[in-house]
Amino acid sequence: MLNRLERKHLLGIEDLTREEIEFIIYTAENLKEISSRDIKKVPTLRGKTIISFFYEPSTRTRTSFEIAAKRLSADTISISASSSSIVKGESLIDTARNIEAMMPDVLIIRYPYAGAPHFLARHLDTSIINAGDGMHEHPTQALLDVMTVKEKKGRIEGLEIVIIGDIAHSRVARSDILAFTKLGARVRVSGPPSLIPPYIEALGADYYQDIEDALIGADVVIALRVQRERQKQVFFPDTREYFIRFGLNKRRLGLTKEDALFMHPGPVNWGVELDPEIMELPRTIILDQVSNGVAIRMAVLYLLAGSKT
Ligand code: CP
Repeated sequence: MLNRLERKHLLGIEDLTREEIEFIIYTAENLKEISSRDIKKVPTLRGKTIISFFYEPSTRTRTSFEIAAKRLSADTISISASSSSIVKGESLIDTARNIEAMMPDVLIIRYPYAGAPHFLARHLDTSIINAGDGMHEHPTQALLDVMTVKEKKGRIEGLEIVIIGDIAHSRVARSDILAFTKLGARVRVSGPPSLIPPYIEALGADYYQDIEDALIGADVVIALRVQRERQKQVFFPDTREYFIRFGLNKRRLGLTKEDALFMHPGPVNWGVELDPEIMELPRTIILDQVSNGVAIRMAVLYLLAGSKT
């Protein structure tokens, strides 16, 4: 096991080694207990300043980064595009350079186009964390997904993970495929053929045209949100048709292993990706994913901003 993370930024799962992923998850497992305390605060990042800059809407990622930073006693500032000088035409790099001039220790960014966190990492001295860049990567989501599966199953190696839905527009799909395969799981994907990218097998996943074939014998099923906001054309007739062909219900999930887990990164379009009856199943662990999001983000902030000092 590593004893420190020798990197300044967290830009994507693609850059991480298996040992680094395991070390981040091990750190999160140790930090998770802080969130169950009566006083949910440790002084680890006292004196550090963490700025999050979200150019796209977010509930889970933004809130959990903020909670994570506060539980570690960092000072946090959260900026959204609509209330910043972006609306007056300021560019990304000018915005970032001005924020950097205020001496933050970490800058967390969510941006609608791929590569923005990498661009900032090349031009700034501050640590950059990618909180989702367009259709590219969402590394902390993949880390919390891996942590949640490991917590429930005790391992990742050898598991059959199935990802269903809008693979083409999903940064979660890409980061999950990279993370789970680096840790020795096998990943299958299924969804409308128009929403499966041509490079899917090069990423390390197997494509199943029939969703029910994909689900047979699965250990974990991850449903993805249909990302209407990124779809520039019509990829399937309507949401009712999507639900009939690719929606997950109790009957379809009955094809998986008896102890299979059901996940979704959120936000869920109920009645499109998932039948609402799924939420009551004990094996549905969507809210465990959200809880572990705080622990993973505490770990990432600690390893990038705190552990070196
Ligand atoms: N899973 C996820 O990224 O959710 P938010 O868009 O609410 O942050």
